[in-house]
Amino acid sequence: MNIQENISLKNYNTFGVNVIANRFINITSVYELQNLLKTEKDIFLLSGGSNMLLTDTIKKLVVHLNIKGISIDRETANDVYITVNAGENWHEFVLWSLSQNYGGIENLSLIPGNVGTCPIQNIGAYGVEVKDVITKVEAIEIATQKLVSFSNEECNFGYRDSIFKNKKRGEYIITSVNFKLSKNKHVLNTSYGAINIELQNKNINSPTIKDISDAVIAIRKSKLPDPKEIGNSGSFFKNPVISKNQFEELLKQYPNIPSYTVSKTEIKVPAGWLIEQSGFKGKRFGDYGVHEKQALVLVNYGNASGKDIFELAKKIQNVVKENFNIFLDIEVNII
Ligand code: EPU
Repeated sequence: MNIQENISLKNYNTFGVNVIANRFINITSVYELQNLLKTEKDIFLLSGGSNMLLTDTIKKLVVHLNIKGISIDRETANDVYITVNAGENWHEFVLWSLSQNYGGIENLSLIPGNVGTCPIQNIGAYGVEVKDVITKVEAIEIATQKLVSFSNEECNFGYRDSIFKNKKRGEYIITSVNFKLSKNKHVLNTSYGAINIELQNKNINSPTIKDISDAVIAIRKSKLPDPKEIGNSGSFFKNPVISKNQFEELLKQYPNIPSYTVSKTEIKVPAGWLIEQSGFKGKRFGDYGVHEKQALVLVNYGNASGKDIFELAKKIQNVVKENFNIFLDIEVNII
């Protein structure tokens, strides 16, 4: 086993922060991983590095999960069942599915990260969540090195949430994910206003899955920074859910506050709006700041440290709490 020492993780996290791993190993098969876990229990798992903020040297063995491969398990008249290994890049998988005319994940185009981590926080965008197309998740139980399988129900998916973030946190390493995609009669999700506008601008009346993907890519590119150019981790905070009573009070003061109804008694408010109203949108502090087009996204312009960015996040939490009496939960994993 090839364990390397003192490796910079700058190119392994989309925030692009320069943190050192004392020990680092690249893993390309389930077998290799099972073998490693027989002797190394205290590990730090690194996949696409797209949902983490690294704030300090990593003393644990960093295991870079790089298991590749896509295979078709079976097909029915309308659907296809596909196994995708954890180390495949999410967006490349989306592009591959479009090239085969497989539908279901076109709205999730351009989300950073790898396939193995998409179930952990149940990635979602433009009216679709990945839980809608996952049939099964395979994972190694760290304690026993056994390969186990979780059905969709067993994953306990919620908004940016699953069993792998809660009850079973740190107990499993996801090695592959099974998807059910449509081969024909695609069910399109164009309910999201921005997608409709984008399609109308292009005079597209009966969109294909490729048209929807193109629209999503255009919207994301116009709002969200490309991590290859500006370090970031997508939404840094979750959209908070507040009581209807609190929302109605806020509405008196801010008649234009955007909202989504969650239930009869709960309303979700966009964190981006709260942060913008608190004056942070586009604010730059040295090499880090708040993105100019989407206040939900914190950015690293070059050489910011994870600590700098975390301090800014805490400042934003405090000011939003003071202004609106709403606490913003951080969506990104702080390491
Ligand atoms: N808004 C502002 N100011 C901002 C940002 C947003 O006022 O700086 C307002 C917008 O005008 C709009 C509302 O907030 O009325 C919602 O904004 P947007 O459509 O951009 O969506 P979001 O709720 O901010 C969520 C996801 C995104 C996902 C989009 C589209 C979360 C935490 N974020 O953002 O996910 O792309 O919806 O579906 O749920 C990610 O997780 O990395 C991510 C980018």
